[in-house]
Amino acid sequence: MDSNNNLLEKIVSLCKRKGFVFPSSDIYGGFGGFWDFGPLGVSLKNNLKKLWWQEFVEKRSDMYGLDSAIILNPKTWEASGHTGPGFADPLKECKTCHHRFRADDLKEEKCPDCSGELTKEKNFNILVKTFIGPVEDTSTQAYLRGETAQGIFINFKNILDVFHPKIPFGIAQIGKAFRNEITPGNYIFRSREFEQMEIEYFTRPDENDRYFNEWREIVFNWFLKIGLKKENIRRYDHPKEKLSHYSKGTTDVEYQFPFGWSELQGTANRTDFDLNTHMKYSGVDLSYKDESEKKFIPYVIEPSFGVERLILAILCDAYNEEEVKGEKRIVLKLRPDLAPYKVAVFPLVSNKPEIVDKAKSIYNSIKSDFMAVWDDIGNIGKRYRRQDEIGTPWCITVDYQTLEDGTVTVRDRDSMEQVRIKIEELKNYFNSKISNF
Ligand code: GAP
Repeated sequence: MDSNNNLLEKIVSLCKRKGFVFPSSDIYGGFGGFWDFGPLGVSLKNNLKKLWWQEFVEKRSDMYGLDSAIILNPKTWEASGHTGPGFADPLKECKTCHHRFRADDLKEEKCPDCSGELTKEKNFNILVKTFIGPVEDTSTQAYLRGETAQGIFINFKNILDVFHPKIPFGIAQIGKAFRNEITPGNYIFRSREFEQMEIEYFTRPDENDRYFNEWREIVFNWFLKIGLKKENIRRYDHPKEKLSHYSKGTTDVEYQFPFGWSELQGTANRTDFDLNTHMKYSGVDLSYKDESEKKFIPYVIEPSFGVERLILAILCDAYNEEEVKGEKRIVLKLRPDLAPYKVAVFPLVSNKPEIVDKAKSIYNSIKSDFMAVWDDIGNIGKRYRRQDEIGTPWCITVDYQTLEDGTVTVRDRDSMEQVRIKIEELKNYFNSKISNF
């Protein structure tokens, strides 16, 4: 992997050129901190979310899924502490040009833009505000959720009442979160609208340390399992004085991004902070009653993942430049189950109706099982390069021999080797390749 920012520039360019990620609101000059995912990006994102959901919800018997509203009763955020100083960036404002800067980013006491005088440090809350209903005043003010976690806590009682889960158990949610970040940047690493994949795992109070350690392992191993390179991930334990207002212990998984080691994911021991505070603010009993009728407030272990950060890490790991027969080949070595397209189908020539028709029928039949793409433009070498760049693991070419013996060539993205396979064996072939990966 390129170890410098060059790699980031190459990924940004590839993602725009190939339709993974566009700057949001492009025709209006963009909108800082927001990104739009194009056809390939949405496919990659959906594949990643599906893998996560399968691993942490479907394959386990102690997990419940959820999709809560994005705008919750504003009391939620008072109770959670997010309207207070715990969810704020320290800012200074220039008295002349009124630009704002993160206090801890400033090197001098003068405005970096116009050298004007700066105000004293103020805490700037990063929850995104909106108004619900026809009147815009403090009584109708609400917030777009700053984390998906709170939607889980306020549904804790619903899950208890309907499913009567045995402790320990978890509730998982994937969805959008919004933060008015003062310094969004490093591409999709820090944005103002992003997606989280979060689990709140409820334990007996005296078992919180055990499950905290267990989840730290599970999370790290999952990153290895989905193919992140071992040398590019490491763990970082937050020092006690830097912990969030709700946390007793937090361990991040950091990834070696082109701009340096940075937080990819975090696992926190949130104790009984959230359930206690929601109980206090709502007046509703959020305790858990075990088999012996003993009541207690569960502790919570929270593994929290950012979808876009993980997408960026996956792209950095997958990006390769190779020299093939004196020419540069760009190839995204994505796991087949993450790749936007699994298969590309090419007719060798586009002016021979028998070949085109045969290729079309293969394309239509493959498409119902595997995300497939059709390409009949340019020579086969160029078509391979186009698919390599977007990470398509296999390309099928229909040629003259196909018409004679019902076989096609299947070319592998990583080895670039070609094999001849009978048309009726294609689905089995791809299925076995995907499941063995
Ligand atoms: N519920 C806990 C929580 O939200 P966090 O460390 O603030 O904790 C969790 O966020 C994860 O969400 C981060 O590890 C990161 O992957 C992602 N994330 C947080 N802020 C982000 C932002 N501004 N842009 C993109 N991803 C972000």
